[in-house]
Amino acid sequence: MTRAVLNFRFTLRRVLYAGVLLVLSLTAAASDALTPAERTLLKAFGPWPGSVSDDPSNRYSGNDAAIAFGKTLFFDPRISRDSNLSCATCHQAERSFTDGLPRPTGTRVLDRNTIALANFRHTRWFGWAGRTDTLWGQSIHPIVSPLEMGMTAELFVERLKENADLARGYEALFDTPPDFSDPQAALVNSAKALAAYQETITTPRTAFDDFRDAVVANDQDAEKIYPPSARRGLKLFLGRANCAACHFGPTLTNNEFANIGRSHFIDGGRVDEGRFGGLELLKASPYTRAGPYSDEAEQTASKAPANFVMNNHATWGQFRVPSLRDVANTSPYMHDGSLESLDDVVDYYNEPDMERIHTAGVQLVRPLKLTDAEKKDLVTFLKTLSDN
Ligand code: HEC
Ligand code: HEC
Repeated sequence: MTRAVLNFRFTLRRVLYAGVLLVLSLTAAASDALTPAERTLLKAFGPWPGSVSDDPSNRYSGNDAAIAFGKTLFFDPRISRDSNLSCATCHQAERSFTDGLPRPTGTRVLDRNTIALANFRHTRWFGWAGRTDTLWGQSIHPIVSPLEMGMTAELFVERLKENADLARGYEALFDTPPDFSDPQAALVNSAKALAAYQETITTPRTAFDDFRDAVVANDQDAEKIYPPSARRGLKLFLGRANCAACHFGPTLTNNEFANIGRSHFIDGGRVDEGRFGGLELLKASPYTRAGPYSDEAEQTASKAPANFVMNNHATWGQFRVPSLRDVANTSPYMHDGSLESLDDVVDYYNEPDMERIHTAGVQLVRPLKLTDAEKKDLVTFLKTLSDN
């Protein structure tokens, strides 16, 4: 081949390379811009904080004195049988009201990961399996569980009575001293105060909220502050990775239950029934919106979703779709705390255990084939849901 021909080929190749690079950089620029459809979808993820009302099932919801008494109870180990556990043992304020452990220890290692406490006026079902539909009902559970604080209603009243400060606080709020004639009422009252306090725990605005608001306001300068990597991660979250099919809305959960194929074996042997067991407990629980201890008007309580849910085999192994607000601060993850980091979570969704997923109908979770760069983008996005 002559030198002229070689030179020509060389130049041609250079032009081709330049062209490829140009196309690549254009698609890179395009790939972090939101499509009109994505911009519309994003509206549903805010505003934050959203507007909320008091809990109609709890007459002390939003009551300052109840919030104060509830806070006292929350941090007080005297409400456990051995005076060694308070709510704050597992729900530590400085750790987003969780404990950083895969599973905490009560009287033995519990079966599930401690849930971070926040944004309860946005929560429909409580616990990983949705054992109840009220925050005060959920708050009674650890007090009387033999695996946690190990109390009975009678012993609870005894503790209130024998500690003058607690007895005074109780009487000031409920206009009656704690007494043994109706221990159950004393327990429920106290749980409602605990709930009033927990309702005040909310997560702050985040970089994601600023971006969402900028998009809604069409404020392009404000939009630019959100990093390109987070934007690409958001696009995956809404689109190809299909996360928003379940993690949707202001708290990034549809407030329902799903099976993503995580193991439901506990310590290799026992089985966690997930939502199946949760529904059985819900149906049997007196501590629901429509139950005898609720303060909610019959008219709305009778329309509560708990009255209409039915159990079937598909609920087996389902767990609550967790909120992703503050998620960077609440590791480890999943109902059993089996994943250490957000990188691990994204790795899992990239190659989920399809054998364990037995959903009838649309397959929402499937192998994603994300590149390492895309996985990183998704994690970057998830981190923008937390205030750091
Ligand atoms: C030994 C550790 C431990 C103690 C003590 C404890 N919790 Fe929990 N908490 C957990 C675990 C584990 C879960 C998840 C339980 C489940 O889903 O089965 C949880 C879940 C919750 C939830 C559900 C949150 C949600 O979003 O659904 C609330 C509310 C709660 N706890 C409040 C309390 C209160 C109030 C107390 C004290 C009266 C308390 N906890 C004591 C470990 C603990
Ligand atoms: C089919 C509904 C569904 C889809 C789709 C889905 N998730 Fe989840 N997600 C869940 C459920 C259910 C859990 C809890 C599962 C468990 O504990 O076993 C969960 C747990 C998580 C957690 C752990 C949160 C915590 O506090 O423990 C993160 C993070 C998460 N998902 C992010 C994602 C991302 C990112 C995607 C997209 C790649 C995604 N999810 C897709 C339902 C879904």
